Amino acid sequence: MTGQIHHWDGLHSARDAGASSDGPSTLAEETARSLDTRARVLELGCGAGADAAHFAREGHEVLALDFSAVAIRRASRHYVGLGVEFREVDFSRPLDLPSESFDLVYSRLSLHYFTDDVTRALIGEVARLLVRDGCLVVLCRSVADPLCGRGVKIEDNMFRLDDHVRHFFSVGYMRELIADRFGQAEVTEFDGSAYGYESAFVKAVARRK
Ligand SMILES: C[S@@+](CC[C@H](N)C(=O)[O-])C[C@H]1O[C@@H](n2cnc3c(N)ncnc32)[C@H](O)[C@@H]1O
Repeated sequence: MTGQIHHWDGLHSARDAGASSDGPSTLAEETARSLDTRARVLELGCGAGADAAHFAREGHEVLALDFSAVAIRRASRHYVGLGVEFREVDFSRPLDLPSESFDLVYSRLSLHYFTDDVTRALIGEVARLLVRDGCLVVLCRSVADPLCGRGVKIEDNMFRLDDHVRHFFSVGYMRELIADRFGQAEVTEFDGSAYGYESAFVKAVARRK
């Protein structure tokens, strides 16, 4: 949600001190291993930039988007010289990028902030941007997450808690979102931790038809 930008700038500023030592996520490491040489990677919601930096170090061409000026400024500074293009963009709106220009669209914990209509439009944009057989890797908080149901309800499985809006995904919802435009989809649900707290996730790895 665009109205959340100040909230995210605040969170990124607060995390500023420790984030530079953060390494890539396991999801980024696994995903990078599955890529061909010099893939074109689009990351949605790069935050501190460690995953984007990992893809670049592995030899891929990376465009990393986030609407937080604080996050983009810090990631650009910290990972200067790696060739990642960090860009300040609100990806809940149509993206000014050419169709079929990426081999991978990757998003870790960044697509579960939008209403159902915006989420569907965003998945449409992702499909437009991927080449045929290009890969979508997305990790969202699941409805089994302990935070699901807490706070003020916005719509189904979507709540605002302490100024933070989250849209929790079920496996069925993720499958439904990608069904039309993606084949060979693997959707899994599992427990884990996010930013030091117990959490639960839904992950999709899918190929564009
Ligand atoms: C939970 S963080 C995840 C960051 C990183 N991918 C990670 O795994 O640590 C979510 C990120 O999405 C970004 N974000 C949220 N809504 C956005 C939007 N509409 N457009 C662009 N970025 C957005 C936030 O600024 C934040 O960096």
